[in-house]
Amino acid sequence: MKTLQIRSPQEAAEIIRHGGVVAFPTETVFGLGADATNPEAIRRLFVAKGRPSDNPLIVHVSERGKCRQAASIVTRHAEALLQAFSPGPLTVVLPKQSTIDDSVTAGLQTVGIRIPRHEVAAEILRLADVPVAAPSANLSGRPSGTTWRSVWEDLADRVDAVYCEDSTCFGIESTVVDCTRDVPMVLRPGAVSLAQIRSVVPNAEALQMTHVASASQASCDQLSEINSPGLLHPHYQPQAKVRLIDYWSQGLASGAKTAYCGLESDAVEADFGLYRRYKNVEAYAADFYEFLREVDRRSIDMVYVQIAPEQGIGTALRDRQRRAAMD
Ligand code: TXA
Ligand code: MG
Repeated sequence: MKTLQIRSPQEAAEIIRHGGVVAFPTETVFGLGADATNPEAIRRLFVAKGRPSDNPLIVHVSERGKCRQAASIVTRHAEALLQAFSPGPLTVVLPKQSTIDDSVTAGLQTVGIRIPRHEVAAEILRLADVPVAAPSANLSGRPSGTTWRSVWEDLADRVDAVYCEDSTCFGIESTVVDCTRDVPMVLRPGAVSLAQIRSVVPNAEALQMTHVASASQASCDQLSEINSPGLLHPHYQPQAKVRLIDYWSQGLASGAKTAYCGLESDAVEADFGLYRRYKNVEAYAADFYEFLREVDRRSIDMVYVQIAPEQGIGTALRDRQRRAAMD
């Protein structure tokens, strides 16, 4: 398939309306969009990404008033969270509307809904005027795409079009909150922090990472308890061995086939084949996936990743760093 390079929301919306698959920027990462009410479009999306069919997709709509296109009920907690953080990097899980194809939600009776704030994404959704299923625009198991070239690297010849503009902002995916239960549960930490979620819904809980890590070898019972099968799939793993460190210390292996990324540190650029040091945790999060991709492009063997501080988007970045380091 010949993949178009486009820069027009109108064109993207037309392709989606006609059952096509289009990658476009959002404020978190690039999404790979298709009409959530069109089973054939969704089938093509899963194939393009190489995504396991048991991993549900997030459905995107242009405004709060359109949530009912995807959800049968908007619960009280979801309403409050959407009011506070949408449009923005938040996904709420709600009971699903029957018009959303079952393949979108991997057979679950719930659906993740997000209203992006990014201008291009918002305009595409408004013009398409259908709920748009959009996972991150990467091959399954690869780091999410935060630049159009990275998206192109993974998906050229596999999708109908890629929107060519580098304008993602957070660089980490949305916060996913299960709002179907009395006590809302953060299933995936993201750009909206747990503290922000709790400022609106004080009793919200967060799924613990250790729980998820052990669940990857666990029984189906635990899987249904977590109720977000996608969390159990391998994620964000570069070819290189990833080692998480608190601080750089002399004596760790260095050289042309090693890489380092982090904030403050004594690590010296000249010691590594690839070196990235960031001013603050926001800049670190924004570039992390692109850094991992560069590691692969350069066939680096060993990556030292300075673990992010537990503050703001740092919590979500730590989650992705731990996943990248999982064997
Ligand atoms: O920022 C984002 O959320 C990006 C942009 C494109 O919107 N999208 C994204 O999609 O990260 P994806 O497919 O890469 O990740 C979706 C996550 C997965 O962990 C999936 O299991 C979970 O959301 N999810 C989706 N629907 C769900 C549901 N009904 N119940 C529980 N978890 C769900
Ligand atoms: Mg993803």
